[in-house]
Amino acid sequence: MNSYKYCIQAENLSKSFCRKGGKKRGLFSGFSIEVKPGEIIGLSGPSGCGKTTLGDILLGLKHPDTGKVFWNGNGINGSGKSSRMALRPYFQKIYQDPPTSFPPHQTIEEALTDVVKNKYSIGRKDIINRRILAAIKDVDLDKELLKRYPRQLSGGEIQRFALSRVLLLKPIFLVADEPTSRLDLSVQAKIVRLLMRLAKERRTGVLFISHDPALLRVACKKVLSFGR
Ligand SMILES: Nc1ncnc2c1ncn2[C@@H]1O[C@H](COP(=O)(O)OP(=O)(O)OP(=O)(O)O)[C@@H](O)[C@H]1O
Ligand SMILES: [Mg+2]
Repeated sequence: MNSYKYCIQAENLSKSFCRKGGKKRGLFSGFSIEVKPGEIIGLSGPSGCGKTTLGDILLGLKHPDTGKVFWNGNGINGSGKSSRMALRPYFQKIYQDPPTSFPPHQTIEEALTDVVKNKYSIGRKDIINRRILAAIKDVDLDKELLKRYPRQLSGGEIQRFALSRVLLLKPIFLVADEPTSRLDLSVQAKIVRLLMRLAKERRTGVLFISHDPALLRVACKKVLSFGR
């Protein structure tokens, strides 16, 4: 997994959805993108123009109408289910709406424990705890908060736990879909700094979706724009 030139490549993507009455609405066409390790590419555009849809296509969660997404020279959408499942932990998303990022019936500690168990096949509680504590220290969170359910945390705290989950998974490619839109200014800046650190230190490639051009200018080497 260590030597790859691009975290994600896509060529000639297009997508449209059927509207009521069967009429099609084209979101984008002929769209190509390459994200290298450690690079943050920005994506802006008005609400409803297809940013989330594009992110989901790049993650293999939705199919494009035309075009292809590649990782390491292999098509993601066309590959078999088992190879897609093997890649799944390496392609991650941070959601626009923090409360939906964790299951409501689990404490954050239980959710993060599952992540470490499944990804690294580690059973020993002390080793799991050490990894979790290191990841939450990185995002500046108190360990007391691990015992809480998502509904007992603020949006900023949940978003930082979502980032700590990303740190535990060490993804190749991350779609950060308006990760700061529901947060106040000081937390926004913190999340953006964490994304920049993740890209720099872990060599994760990031697609950073945002409505905020100032935020994108700070974080991104290149900003792509979707029109209507
Ligand atoms: N499964 C679907 N079936 C039909 N239409 C859909 C489907 N998913 C998304 N759409 C429509 O496609 C358009 C683009 O949606 P998308 O969520 O990608 O926009 P967005 O740019 O992320 O918007 P926002 O900035 O509000 O998050 C919207 O008009 C949406 O209603
Ligand atoms: Mg969206």
